[in-house]
Amino acid sequence: MSREPPMNLPPTAASNRFEHVPLTVFPSSAEASRAVAGEIAALIRARQAAKRTVVLGLATGSTPQQLYAELVRMHREEGLSFANVVTFNLDEYFPIQPSALRSYRHFMQVNLFDHIDIVPANTHVPDGTLPISSLDAFCREYEEKIQAAGGIDIQILGIGRTGHIGFNEPGSPRRSRTRMVTLDSLTRRDASGDFGGEENTPRHAVTMGVRTILEARRVILMAWGQHKAEIVREAVEGPVTPQITASFLQEHDNVHFVVDMAA
Ligand code: GLP
Repeated sequence: MSREPPMNLPPTAASNRFEHVPLTVFPSSAEASRAVAGEIAALIRARQAAKRTVVLGLATGSTPQQLYAELVRMHREEGLSFANVVTFNLDEYFPIQPSALRSYRHFMQVNLFDHIDIVPANTHVPDGTLPISSLDAFCREYEEKIQAAGGIDIQILGIGRTGHIGFNEPGSPRRSRTRMVTLDSLTRRDASGDFGGEENTPRHAVTMGVRTILEARRVILMAWGQHKAEIVREAVEGPVTPQITASFLQEHDNVHFVVDMAA
């Protein structure tokens, strides 16, 4: 087996003695996003050299936007190709049309996929248009596709204010897999600005499960801003509990939290 390139993210700093996961504080979210993009690009290039694919687990929300902008810049200015990249997004609202402005499929097209040379069929986002009766089969197939692609090499995560990863709201068990979930009221309130009011905000979503996420070979959770500081602290220093699904990451042996000063 060829060795993967060394990770660009520095190891745990001395100040983290209460934390159960490696965490790096960057002066700004821009610098942090560049470091994460650098790690992803290094893996893509190493796999290209070995004629192998890379499987990325991707997140939406405001947090990864600078990361995607940096990857687009590297594609345009440094010739970084995504021809060998396969992606699986964490989640999607339900129900929602892929063309809807607030769908995560639309977000991914606009922020990343439309600007790089990824093969469209290699991009996977849960389907928000299915009849309820076919959701179970869809979710099973989503898991099977991840396995068939070789499993997720790097999973990118943000964190919601309920401590959720993907849309694994409080109460999601460690063994959960891709499934339909009911959104927490705080999550819906946070999203309501995007949807023009809470009454227009979807009540459900399809999300990868906690177990799906924990099976990724490497997990990078990013968090910016003071409004995330308390929940990040609970996730890295608190007990491992389904009430804060990000805390399950403490049990992953290749996870890295990347935060800015405020978070
Ligand atoms: C939503 C997404 C999560 C994301 C979270 C935080 O709940 N499903 O994947 O991490 O929002 O969003 P933001 O990055 O905008 O703070």
